[in-house]
Amino acid sequence: MLRLDLIDPLISGNKWFKLAPYLALAAESGAAGLISLGGAHSNHLHALAAAGQRFAFPAVGLLRGEPQDTPTVRDLQAWGMQLHWLGYGGYRARNKPDFWTAWQQRYPHLLAVGEGGSGLLGARGCMPLRQQVRAQLSNIGWADYDAWWLAAGTGTTAAGLVLAEAGDKPVFAALAVPGDHGTAGQIARVLAEAGVADQGYHLLQACRGGFARMDAELLAFMAQAEQAGSLPLEPLYTAKALLALREETEAGYFARGSRVVFVHTGGLQGRRATQADVDQPGGAAVN
Ligand SMILES: Cc1ncc(COP(=O)(O)O)c(C=O)c1O
Repeated sequence: MLRLDLIDPLISGNKWFKLAPYLALAAESGAAGLISLGGAHSNHLHALAAAGQRFAFPAVGLLRGEPQDTPTVRDLQAWGMQLHWLGYGGYRARNKPDFWTAWQQRYPHLLAVGEGGSGLLGARGCMPLRQQVRAQLSNIGWADYDAWWLAAGTGTTAAGLVLAEAGDKPVFAALAVPGDHGTAGQIARVLAEAGVADQGYHLLQACRGGFARMDAELLAFMAQAEQAGSLPLEPLYTAKALLALREETEAGYFARGSRVVFVHTGGLQGRRATQADVDQPGGAAVN
């Protein structure tokens, strides 16, 4: 398991990797800071706001839905992120071609970053993960590995690994969102933009009925895995991806002896909002 949850207490998981190229571009292009989008529990906005505070640049967050008071939102505010609540309809318009026009007029000094740090730049930021894993393989006595396994939302992190592997090792992306959320299309677009073939990865459905849906089996598995592996997980991405890996392994998906690198993509800050469900797996609420 590649423990990206451990790289930083706040800018953790895959977030740092997806954000880094946007921060570099902002610095190069003279932008003062970043503007991006997400939900009231967004790991991406949380990392962006933390980076803004730590490196002293302005950050603006466009939020889905009506104003909510969540642990994540409280952190965003405490770290000085300027928030705008777009409603649900307003947030759905984020993929329209002219969505950013008005925001860029309002914040001309900020660089716009797609939801979840998506896009080719975000994917490129994840490419160094391959080398970082390779450099550490001998520490665990592995000469090589056979595949990657990780949770996917926008698919940006998975696309970055596909780019880095260039067809060498396959990337298994366990979808934390339903199939109609467009992950497949986003990965295909990133690869097309990079000028490489749309191959080298497999998408598997792992959302268990919907994004942020939790069921008793998932929460029981998470508690068991946390204990057995002495590691923290959260139920939206990492626990779902790990449970999918176990199910597929039990079903014989991988040949015995296969070496799979599971990427812990972080997101532990989001766990605060689900703590009540996690504490009482039997009474799991559906989000
Ligand atoms: C903890 C966690 N894991 C995985 C993902 C999915 O990453 P990607 O959007 O790059 O597919 C996210 C969110 O984007 C996340 O917050």
